[in-house]
Amino acid sequence: MYHDFNYEATLASSLKGAWQLDDVLRGDQELDFSRNFMPQSLARTAMLDSLSPAEQRILNQISGHQYLCIFGLVEEFILPFLLDHSRPALRDDDYRVRALLNFASEEAKHIHLFKRFHAAFVRGFPVECQMIGPSEAIGAEVLRHDPLAVGLIILMIEWMTQQHYLGSIRDDGDIDPLFKSLLKHHWIEEAQHAKLDTLIVDALAGGRSEAEIDRVMDEFFEIGGFLDNGFAAQAGLNLDAMETAIGRQLDDREAIQAQQHQAARWTFIGSGLVHERFKATLEAISPRAAARVAEAAPIFA
Ligand SMILES: [Fe+2]
Ligand SMILES: [Fe+2]
Repeated sequence: MYHDFNYEATLASSLKGAWQLDDVLRGDQELDFSRNFMPQSLARTAMLDSLSPAEQRILNQISGHQYLCIFGLVEEFILPFLLDHSRPALRDDDYRVRALLNFASEEAKHIHLFKRFHAAFVRGFPVECQMIGPSEAIGAEVLRHDPLAVGLIILMIEWMTQQHYLGSIRDDGDIDPLFKSLLKHHWIEEAQHAKLDTLIVDALAGGRSEAEIDRVMDEFFEIGGFLDNGFAAQAGLNLDAMETAIGRQLDDREAIQAQQHQAARWTFIGSGLVHERFKATLEAISPRAAARVAEAAPIFA
């Protein structure tokens, strides 16, 4: 076995690490708009030389808005996926049922947290930042695929949040402490989710032929392409907000938009595709699936 995750231990860790929403972000807490929200390795805003430092910070904050809104959107389809996955076996393994329902409950809490963040962002930011959507339609498009393809997308997403926090956010002294604490608390609970996703994917992959896995991977890439189109559209919406906020048109808008789309590709797809744990699960399911993902990964770097 390539991992030692199990429902009982994961549930115990989840219950130990759980936090209350009000302890992370009260409804009346304010973000510090004199600071950046996102680390540079994800937002890639400090390398945009045509922008002044103040403009780079505004785009960085828009990128932070995108980050939490995209996670809110993703978690809105994780929630029904978990309920659908749990329901057929509610009587079998008590630890499994409790771990999965606790996982679902934590995602509902995260959705609530991201909504609170969004309200704080709207209070403090000078212009409206539009998001792709509606989230119900995006969720429905993702969930119409084979559950194993959806499970793999979710597994990739949950491992990437681990890498984002440990690799970029934890040691960043530049970003708003409240935003950072929010990401830290999200990371704490996501650490157990990624283990449960691994168990879910193992269960869904059991007994599938190589031809079936190949078809599932086609669907995995289809969902990835669909999300990527969303990130491209989002980059445009982000720059619309940016131009309104700074009161001028960007001369090199096309180049900045492409650069910011690529930053989102790395943040939301690429950094998950190359995660060692994600690759280990793929390898265990099918070395051919792992090879297909390794071949695609550079596009999202
Ligand atoms: Fe979450
Ligand atoms: Fe999660």
